[in-house]
Amino acid sequence: MRKIAIASVILALCGGTFYVVSAAEKAAEPAKEAAPKAPIECFESRKGASEITQKELKPGWPNVKCSPTTGAALWYGDPFDGTVPMGKMPQLDIPEGKAVVKPRSEKLALMPLCGVSCHNGVGPKFTPPTLPKDKKPAPVPTMAAMVPDLANLQHGRGRIWCLDCHHTTQRNKLVDHYGDPVSFDQPQLLCGKCHGDKLRDWRDGIHGKRIGEFVSTGKKRWFTCTECHNPHNVQDGARNRGFVQLQPEPSPQLPRGMANADHEKLHPIPH
Ligand code: HEC
Ligand code: HEC
Ligand code: HEC
Repeated sequence: MRKIAIASVILALCGGTFYVVSAAEKAAEPAKEAAPKAPIECFESRKGASEITQKELKPGWPNVKCSPTTGAALWYGDPFDGTVPMGKMPQLDIPEGKAVVKPRSEKLALMPLCGVSCHNGVGPKFTPPTLPKDKKPAPVPTMAAMVPDLANLQHGRGRIWCLDCHHTTQRNKLVDHYGDPVSFDQPQLLCGKCHGDKLRDWRDGIHGKRIGEFVSTGKKRWFTCTECHNPHNVQDGARNRGFVQLQPEPSPQLPRGMANADHEKLHPIPH
């Protein structure tokens, strides 16, 4: 955006001559002029796993504005763009359509293959001949090559493994405590079986994030657990917990008439 603005200022300053030259260039290179611009992409909550492509909802009205510093989504033209109803959640009594989520399955590149090409217990040469008989950890080099985090699974400090989360026979599904399949679009039903406290907080709105209508009865987009947490790496490297550190946004512009933000360095209550 800024580049375009600068270019047009230069254009205005250089005046007519520049215009004539650029018009001639335009005529000489029609193909270059018509080349489509690379789409602008930003991430919503987890870099590399929650990307959203900028598009116009109506002329001059983008679906999202991206930070030029961090590449994170900063503002939404429509908070419900691309969402679907959340689906049934125990203990959550919200009228149909008032709670919506962004489906995870469309972000998972391997998902169309998981339950079809491999892991179905029968079939062509890539298919393991039998499904595992128990949940004991066993290295899966092919998987680790496809999803590098799996080579050294950092979740549960060695106490949990693939089939605590993934359904044994339906590999394009997660699994609940009864062994029933759970959609990838409802990870809260999986995570909540072990992290009940976090599920409760999320349900109450004190963990996670929601955007949408401000009133309590309004329609909201709920961010699901896996939009923020990478289930295969919740204990980031040397920190051994939490997230990979993000680059912070630059500080916001000071309000008009305020010379500096020194007052923020003094805590009003001594401690
Ligand atoms: C804590 C639960 C949990 C464990 C343990 C776990 N997974 Fe996952 N896995 C998930 C969830 C949830 C997703 C969907 C992630 C998302 O929505 O971004 C997923 C996604 C995947 C995908 C799809 C990735 C893609 O980009 O399409 C593969 C493949 C996978 N897991 C394999 C494994 C293997 C193999 C193991 C064991 C080494 C394992 N997982 C352990 C929860 C888990
Ligand atoms: C089968 C049980 C199980 C499931 C299902 C599960 N977790 Fe965990 N999770 C654990 C255990 C065990 C730990 C390690 C706790 C510890 O040692 O402090 C853990 C740790 C974590 C941590 C790191 C806490 C920290 O800072 O050390 C996060 C974040 C987390 N889980 C998120 C999730 C999310 C999101 C999901 C759903 C995709 C999920 N978990 C599903 C068992 C589970
Ligand atoms: C909007 C993003 C977001 C969503 C959605 C989200 N979390 Fe978190 N979660 C966080 C952040 C940020 C932390 C703090 C991580 C840290 O300490 O580095 C956290 C921490 C955690 C922890 C570790 C807490 C501890 O005591 O260290 C667990 C477990 C967890 N979340 C589970 C979940 C589950 C389960 C869900 C879905 C029901 C969920 N989260 C949804 C952002 C999110």
